[in-house]
Formats: sequence, C-alpha cells, structure tokens
Amino acid sequence: MERIEADVDAVRLSFLKGKDRKVVYIHGSGCDATLWKNQLKAVGGYAVDLPNHGKSCSAEIRDIDDYAYFVAKAVKKLFGKAVIAGHSLGGAVAQKIYLNHPKVVEGLILIGTGVRLRVLPEILRGLKERPDETSKLVSEYSFANRNMAEEFSEIFRARPDLLRKDLLICDKFDLLEKYRNGEIRIDVPVLIVVGEKDRLTPVKYAEFLKKHISNSELVIIEDAGHMVMLERPEGLNDAMGRFLERFDNI
Ligand code: COA
Repeated sequence: MERIEADVDAVRLSFLKGKDRKVVYIHGSGCDATLWKNQLKAVGGYAVDLPNHGKSCSAEIRDIDDYAYFVAKAVKKLFGKAVIAGHSLGGAVAQKIYLNHPKVVEGLILIGTGVRLRVLPEILRGLKERPDETSKLVSEYSFANRNMAEEFSEIFRARPDLLRKDLLICDKFDLLEKYRNGEIRIDVPVLIVVGEKDRLTPVKYAEFLKKHISNSELVIIEDAGHMVMLERPEGLNDAMGRFLERFDNI
C-alpha cells in the first residue's frame, strides 16, 4: 500500500493511502496505521501513524493535545480539511483536533472511544511489571473474538512500553464535565460507532457522546468488541460509507 508524508516542526508523519477520499484515520494506543487496512481498501482515505508509532518519527508527546497538534498540522498541509476518524485514544485525538484546530475538521467519526478514558490501574501496573502477560490481557479485553485477540496480542507484546505510555495519556484525558455543562459544543456532523461487546470503551460512553452532540448518529455493531474495524469491518465500512457520502462533493 502506498504512503505519503508530511513534516510538522521537523517531525515526519507517515500516512498509509487508500483510494482518494478526504478522511483521515487515527489509530488507538500502541497500534499504527495498518489497523485500518480494511477501511482504506473499502472506504478509502488516509491513515496516520502517530508520532513514535509505525513509520512516523519520534516527538515528545505529553498529552492528547500534543498528538492533536501534529495530526492537525499535517492534515492542514496535505488536505486543507478532512473528516477525522479516530479509534479509542485516536477518538480522543479527533475530539481535540476539533476543539483546538476546528478549521481542519469537516466531520468526525468517533469509534470505540469516549469523552473520558480512564484506564484500569491493574493494566497500567501490569504493563510495567509483567509486560508480556498484560499485553496479552489487553488484547483479550480488546476483542469479542478470542482467536483474533490471540493473533493481535503480538502487536502489543512487541512494544508494551509504547502501549503503556499511550494508556497513561488516555487516563488523563477527561472532557466529561465540559460536555456535561455545555462548555463543549460540536457543530460538525458526527458518526459514533461502538461494538456492542466493547469492554474497554463500553456502549454507555458512545451513548453519552450521542446525547451531548446534536448533529450525531450512533451505530452499534453487533458481535464486536473494542477492535470493531478488525472484527466487523463490513459493519463499520457500511456506516462510514453512508456517513461520508454527504462530504464527497465538497
Ligand atoms: N462517557 C460517559 N460516562 C463516563 C465516561 C465516558 N467516557 N467515563 C466515565 N464515565 C462515567 C462512568 O460511567 C461512571 O458513572 P457512574 O458513576 O454512573 O457509574 C463515572 O463516570 C465515573 O467512572 P470512571 O471515570 O470510569 O471512574 P472510576 O474510578 O469509576 O473507574 C475504571 C475507573 C478504570 C475502573 C473505569 O474507567 C473502567 O473500567 N474503564 C474501562 C477499562 C479501561 O481500562 N479502558 C481503557 C480505555 S482506553
């Protein structure tokens, strides 16, 4: 699959390219752009490797805002604006791109994510003390399908330090009160997607987003866990395809 690149403050960000469509995918903790291979083929668009992940260069990242900064600048350079699709940590990054850099956002697709992403303390501790075993456990939590979890655990086991760093960043992400008290208003169209068996970002997180974003629709994908793009690609692709039609002629 082809790649394109953009430099932001001398940090090179790498994107996997599907068929041309102005949608940019952001992966979750400890993953990379290859997570979106099914969507790039069927729906199209571009998937970024966040700094310190995949083929992108390293950068100092302290919080979700830092990730949002790099992706927003790269999107501006490459496309002007785009629909931003994010999964889990990537969904937090997508929200922050909208809040901090609204001009680059045409719409949002929030997949297996939430307005607050607290992480089980035993996961954070376990990744430090028993990285192999805990990486496997995180993979088990991520899938409804056991065989897929087994296969995927290799990705987390290869870089448990990176997974832990990302999860620490998720743990600090918290917009719950700001959404609740109306301080945050999202005015672009938003598609919210969650697997019905998601154990890491449960359906109630998606329902909260639906309730607090006026121009939004919620799609719950049957028989899928947190990694809905791998477990039920056709369900996610259909929902995205329908949602994206409205942007295709802009
Ligand atoms: N959207 C809507 N509501 C949310 C929310 C979100 N994103 N995040 C938390 N809340 C709600 C909870 O439902 C809870 O409401 P309740 O009191 O009515 O049950 C309340 O806010 C407080 O919950 P939480 O922030 O989760 O704190 P906690 O101290 O109760 O629990 C954990 C902490 C880690 C045990 C819990 O967040 C959890 O099980 N998380 C999922 C597992 C995980 O590690 N996910 C990784 C995500 S990247």
